Amino acid sequence: MLKIRSMLLWLFVLSFLLAVSTGCVWKNHVAENDKKLANPPVPVNNPSSDLVKKADRGQKGVSFQVVTNPEIIPVLVNKRNKLPKSYQPLDLIFPDIPFTFKEKLEKRKMRTKAASAIEELFAAAKQQNVTLLGVSAYRSHATQENLFKYYVNLDGYEAARTYSAIPGTSEHETGLAIDVTGGNGKCAAEACFEGTPEASWLQDHAAEYGFIIRYPKGKDTITGYKYEPWHLRYVGKAIAQDIMSRSITLEEYLDVTPVNK
Ligand code: DAL
Ligand code: ZN
Repeated sequence: MLKIRSMLLWLFVLSFLLAVSTGCVWKNHVAENDKKLANPPVPVNNPSSDLVKKADRGQKGVSFQVVTNPEIIPVLVNKRNKLPKSYQPLDLIFPDIPFTFKEKLEKRKMRTKAASAIEELFAAAKQQNVTLLGVSAYRSHATQENLFKYYVNLDGYEAARTYSAIPGTSEHETGLAIDVTGGNGKCAAEACFEGTPEASWLQDHAAEYGFIIRYPKGKDTITGYKYEPWHLRYVGKAIAQDIMSRSITLEEYLDVTPVNK
């Protein structure tokens, strides 16, 4: 009888221990999942990750990584991360916003999500008495090629690279970027846009609609480009708010190597 009682006691102790340890494992599992939800993994094309293919030799000895996930919203396209040659965004549409020109040209187009976001941004600005106009959104590879060549002829290769992207490395080719200006159409993609009420409004509010000022002032050693207060890049609200509230660049957010030049 004593033996049975001690066996039952042991059985009870063992079941208790088992229950406690299972509970801990489950709790850790739940905590881990919560963490993941709070910090959703951002698929980055970090040069050191396997999301980026082999390096590709570019013009004048500049080396590039070829982006393997060009269609993701937070895609990194910069002086080191180039779009695949044949890449064309599949969901380009015409956002319903005014531009500095009337024609229905390719450069009005944006990818669907970016297009609805820019419509919301323009409407919100208008409500706050800030009138904006689109200047240039999507550019095909061929258009970027002609534009870059034009600037090289104008200013020379090295100077052109400080403000214009080598074909394949322009965010305009993703359909996720747009240059904008104020309602009077002056200072379109020009330095005098800095300090205008429209530029200040964008600095303060663009992130609420999922856009960042992609080439901020004083960050040329990271982005590789001069300040462009007019160049908006759609990355989605959560990422945009994080980037703009911390005054950082997409490169810093993704923790990739600065571009430098
Ligand atoms: N102006 C920016 C860098 C571009 O050409 O895409
Ligand atoms: Zn631009």
